[in-house]
Amino acid sequence: MSSIHTASRIEPSANGTAPHPASVPSSVQSQPWVNGNVPNYCDYTVLLNRMVDTAPPNSWLVEVGIYHGFSLRHLAHRAKAARNNLTVVGVDWGRGSPEHADQMAALPCGNLAGPMLSTLITGGVADDVMLVLAPSVKAAKLVPDGSCHMVFIDGDHSRAGVLADIEAWLPKIKPGSYICGHDWPTFPGVHGAVCDVFGHKNHMVLDCPSCWAVQIGK
Ligand SMILES: C[S@@+](CC[C@H](N)C(=O)[O-])C[C@H]1O[C@@H](n2cnc3c(N)ncnc32)[C@H](O)[C@@H]1O
Repeated sequence: MSSIHTASRIEPSANGTAPHPASVPSSVQSQPWVNGNVPNYCDYTVLLNRMVDTAPPNSWLVEVGIYHGFSLRHLAHRAKAARNNLTVVGVDWGRGSPEHADQMAALPCGNLAGPMLSTLITGGVADDVMLVLAPSVKAAKLVPDGSCHMVFIDGDHSRAGVLADIEAWLPKIKPGSYICGHDWPTFPGVHGAVCDVFGHKNHMVLDCPSCWAVQIGK
């Protein structure tokens, strides 16, 4: 890894408008585990869109931590529309994070596997995604080194967890491509781990301030 680009190097895409709204569609709301109050963390469609728009043909796009799958559904729609033979992977162990304790207790089956898959099926992208139900670090072993244009980390938000994710997923990034993630301003563990690895500077994506991103040198 050589040069690390600051977030300001990631420019807005010309056509960053999301074709699919991040809101929950009526087909998904009809599922028993979705009552309209499911938190939708996907305030980063602009970044996902840009990653698709800049992805080299045949590259991989990975989201780690997908919860009910709304962001993954958006990514899959966008990647499919790009017609660039992109491979979309979603990774989640299905049991939530400490901040989800109340929501997990309210799920009929007590895990996220059904809700995730339902979001992809009702969203029409179940055939366009590889959904990996596994701990993040183990799932990384399935992905070829140097294959990914984006790995988006939004799983374990503790400092140790984010450090482990970065260590596991960094070798997967293509030269010139991106490792990035959510909750830059909100979880000290995220901020701390990203700065531990990539240096103490502002890695925030300027037009997507909930996210951090680092471009891996060629
Ligand atoms: C904040 S949510 C993800 C939100 C999602 N990106 C979105 O925008 O809707 C975090 C997710 O990470 C998953 N998770 C937490 N730790 C994990 C780990 N070590 N391996 C795999 N998944 C994990 C949880 O199950 C949860 O679904």
